[in-house]
Amino acid sequence: MSGRKIAWLLLVCLFLTGCQRAQKEEEKTSIRIGISLYRGDDTFINNIRSVIEEKAKEYERESGIKVTLDIQDAKGSQNTQNNQVERFISLGCDVLCINPVDRMDVSVIIDRAMTAGVPVVFFNRQPVEEDMNRWDKLYYIGVDARETAILQGQMVVDLYGEQPWAVDRNEDGVVSYVLLEGESSHQDSLIRTEWSIQTLKDGGVPIEKITGGIANWERSQASALMEQWLDAYPDTIELVVSNNDDMALGAIDALERAKVTGVNVVGIDGTTPGIEALESGKLLGTVSANKEIYGSAIVDLAASCALGEECPEEYPLTDGVYYWTPQEILIQ
Ligand code: GAL
Repeated sequence: MSGRKIAWLLLVCLFLTGCQRAQKEEEKTSIRIGISLYRGDDTFINNIRSVIEEKAKEYERESGIKVTLDIQDAKGSQNTQNNQVERFISLGCDVLCINPVDRMDVSVIIDRAMTAGVPVVFFNRQPVEEDMNRWDKLYYIGVDARETAILQGQMVVDLYGEQPWAVDRNEDGVVSYVLLEGESSHQDSLIRTEWSIQTLKDGGVPIEKITGGIANWERSQASALMEQWLDAYPDTIELVVSNNDDMALGAIDALERAKVTGVNVVGIDGTTPGIEALESGKLLGTVSANKEIYGSAIVDLAASCALGEECPEEYPLTDGVYYWTPQEILIQ
């Protein structure tokens, strides 16, 4: 083929690609996002849900692209969530945002999404790396659990450094603590527990563990555990280290019922009731994920996936997959 013919062919191809792209851009005046929550009654997840709804409206106003959100509650069942994914795909969702029930068991979701060519933004419950590496249209948005834990430990270390008596309440040279842990299979429980305690030790707080237990992120379960511990170890507990705010609030409920005062309680999340407890002086401190940024990242990344665009620059992706939301200490 002569050079001239090749040049013509190239020009025709470029023209056709341009036409296709223009048509594609023209087509997308609306996007549909399928969202499944592991449990709709989880306080932190509910806070994130509200921000997602608000940010989707903002995105719609600013971009002129209509955004339809289909938000479903999986009510703690992976099977229900798999069916929701099936339905989202049959309804023609352009992208899925999934808060997995079982973070170790997302293979069915990934299989369906890959077959249908629908990208997935997972959030809050992190699938294992092996699953995340199966396709280049899988993303994860969350909070770095180790960073959270170090911040939680640090707020007690700092207080102890400034006013040791405010932490070692009976001034016996030992800070006796109890530990409330989230779901045992959740990446956040394991990492938060390990690093929070390590930070206290490294920071020179003379801690001694009295006891601990799993309360699965739940206020009522934590309250029941704390009630037992207050009975079993009267006048001993000086500090409650909780993997989240809801369980910290459960411990506070038990302290109030038993009319025990002077025990420090620290949580994680910065949920609406958590911040209220902080403001009223019941919670010593919490580590708050920036929920505005968390929700915006989910909406903006999902929208860019739906439109076939690059991830927005304000959310730098680690390894092209993970976005870590910033967080901060909130203390009395
Ligand atoms: C954690 C959060 C908990 C709970 C859990 C659900 O990150 O701290 O409060 O919401 O996620 O997966």
